[in-house]
Amino acid sequence: MEKTVTEAIAYRRSCRVYKDVEIDATKVKQCIKNAVLAPTSSNLQLWEFYHITDKEVIKKLSSACFYQNAAKTAQQLVVVLARKDLWRQRCKSNIDFLNKAFDKPDLEERLVKRKKMALNYYQKIMPITYFDFLGIFGLLKYLIFQVVGLFRPIYRQARLSDMRIVAHKSAGLAAQNFMISMAAIGYDTCPMEGSDTLRVKQTLNIPRSAEINMIIGCGLRDDKGIYGPRFRVPFNDVYHEV
Ligand SMILES: Cc1cc2nc3c(=O)[nH]c(=O)nc-3n(C[C@H](O)[C@H](O)[C@H](O)COP(=O)(O)O)c2cc1C
Repeated sequence: MEKTVTEAIAYRRSCRVYKDVEIDATKVKQCIKNAVLAPTSSNLQLWEFYHITDKEVIKKLSSACFYQNAAKTAQQLVVVLARKDLWRQRCKSNIDFLNKAFDKPDLEERLVKRKKMALNYYQKIMPITYFDFLGIFGLLKYLIFQVVGLFRPIYRQARLSDMRIVAHKSAGLAAQNFMISMAAIGYDTCPMEGSDTLRVKQTLNIPRSAEINMIIGCGLRDDKGIYGPRFRVPFNDVYHEV
């Protein structure tokens, strides 16, 4: 039986050593299906997931992960990518979806308005937000927005680096959905950013414009797989009720 959300969150630890026991790739894939249900900025879904089950590829990737135990002993790996570069494609997918979803002859007035607003968002606002050239347009937007922001609230995260963060944020949420789903079925994971991302991309034939968000080791925890008790700074240091 699957754990409850609270149980799965409590169970999930970063596991650095896995048992030499196979895990079911179909179940892992199902957890990746849960990952893509994570919320995502503007529903652009600027992410991709590589599910590695081939032992030779795992070996190559564990070298790119500096032979960390969490990669070396993993039964499978999941590479989470941030694909900011796919924004045009994803805008188009959203536009196609909207045109289909609202394709009814007797559409209510409020739905006609909603469709128009949503289409405007993906056809005009998103291209302005995401378009950039060597960071120059982003900087220009940023400066204009700072000036406008003196007079009214405005979205200020418009630089190239900001848009990369936007894509990574959503990819991180998907990664967490994945890890919690794995924990719910008693599977273990370890998120890793310690890797040579260029070598990872070369191994998986991933375009340069894609960015590695994290690599997640997967397996069943060994008795020595969890390195120590969980440490968190005091809750009241990070919690602010206003
Ligand atoms: C984005 C990210 C990157 C991480 N990179 C690594 C890593 O490269 N190697 C590693 O052993 N653990 C890595 N961790 C795991 C953290 O060290 C771990 O989450 C933290 O110590 C808290 O422990 P817990 O996950 O067991 O609660 C990473 C975690 C996150 C969220």
